[in-house]
Amino acid sequence: MSVPTQMKSMRTQADHKVGVETVDVPKPQANEVLVRVKAVTLNPTDWKSARMLAAPGNGVGCDAYGEVVSVGSDLAVPLKVGQHVAYFEMGSFNSPRTGTFSEYSLTQSDNAIIVPEGYDPYEAASWGIGGLTAVQTLFDKLAIKNIDNKISSLPSVSADSPQLLVWAASTSVGQFAVQLGRVAGYHVIATASEKNWDYLKSLGAADLYDYKDDKTPAAIHEKYPKLGLALDCFSEKGSTVAVAKSLGEDAPKGSKVCCILPADKAAKQIRPDVEFITSLVYTTLGREFKFGGWPVSKEELAADKKFIKPWVAGQDSIAHNLMAKKLVRGNKIKKMDGGIDAIEKGMDFQQSGQVSMEKLAYDIA
Ligand SMILES: NC(=O)c1ccc[n+]([C@@H]2O[C@H](COP(=O)([O-])OP(=O)(O)OC[C@H]3O[C@@H](n4cnc5c(N)ncnc54)[C@H](OP(=O)(O)O)[C@@H]3O)[C@@H](O)[C@H]2O)c1
Repeated sequence: MSVPTQMKSMRTQADHKVGVETVDVPKPQANEVLVRVKAVTLNPTDWKSARMLAAPGNGVGCDAYGEVVSVGSDLAVPLKVGQHVAYFEMGSFNSPRTGTFSEYSLTQSDNAIIVPEGYDPYEAASWGIGGLTAVQTLFDKLAIKNIDNKISSLPSVSADSPQLLVWAASTSVGQFAVQLGRVAGYHVIATASEKNWDYLKSLGAADLYDYKDDKTPAAIHEKYPKLGLALDCFSEKGSTVAVAKSLGEDAPKGSKVCCILPADKAAKQIRPDVEFITSLVYTTLGREFKFGGWPVSKEELAADKKFIKPWVAGQDSIAHNLMAKKLVRGNKIKKMDGGIDAIEKGMDFQQSGQVSMEKLAYDIA
């Protein structure tokens, strides 16, 4: 397939605005592949980064699914032209060379999940930020039992299985966390609005509560005295305090809560025996970046990239296998019309806080 010299691409503009421009198609460097972007999904970080933090002139957009159309000279993973991949990039920040709300986008060969034939393209795109945040928080930061890359069926789970609380389970991250926790053999306790319970049960949640009900933390605390592992997929407006109150009276030594925004100090006061960790998925790219003063050391970047590699890189990756065996599906998709020109409106919708267990998805090329 011939690659054009120019493409449409969403870029950050002055005054924290975004706009679609015609720009040169970038060329892949040593470990990069150029992808013809077929589908993208939206994340809160897209509007937050572009409209609150980023400088002008950068490519916008993180999640993507598409077809490899050219490859760099020194790939860490031997991707081939014609293969379909899903990945995320640090949209709005890195440079004009990255950002997925573009007809063509670059990513590193060892950052791209090879998507099995038949897997839904929009769901594949949603693995980017949402899926890999769930992977990083559960299997690295909370260090729950790992998943083998050869797993082919769900393990049995009983009342005696280890317990995991996924708070705000209908978020993009939460939908993945429920499924990954279930595949890893956990009894998954989840919170969400009641209208979303049936779907979350179909993903593997064993016991559901409404996060809006003030009685929820006490109910979970009573029922699960040994609960000591939790992922807070919302991490604001008091959610981490509610998570702290939900943990069991007899939570074991080494109990942990992982947050995906800076952890609320009030939660630590409620459970001083528990470790509260904050995690940022961008660190798994292994590249240095500046993100609202978030401190990240070179050692942490190297460790987080090393952690994610077996999950994403190559034909034997854990994510590829979970897709191929249909053990983990992507987010519940809301297909949007209008392609790249309509994404800005989707960002408005996401920013208005109206998204409820729906991943806005767009066709690009
Ligand atoms: N640190 C990282 O690496 C990282 C990565 C990804 C996301 N994030 C951040 O994590 C947050 C979630 O992102 P996302 O894409 O997963 O979210 P999302 O899919 O946009 O979240 C929508 C969901 O939020 C739930 N919700 C709304 N208000 C809530 C509340 N007060 N308590 C609990 N849940 C509530 C809603 O649940 P119901 O419809 O059931 O009411 C809705 O389904 C964002 O702030 C995002 O910027 C951080």
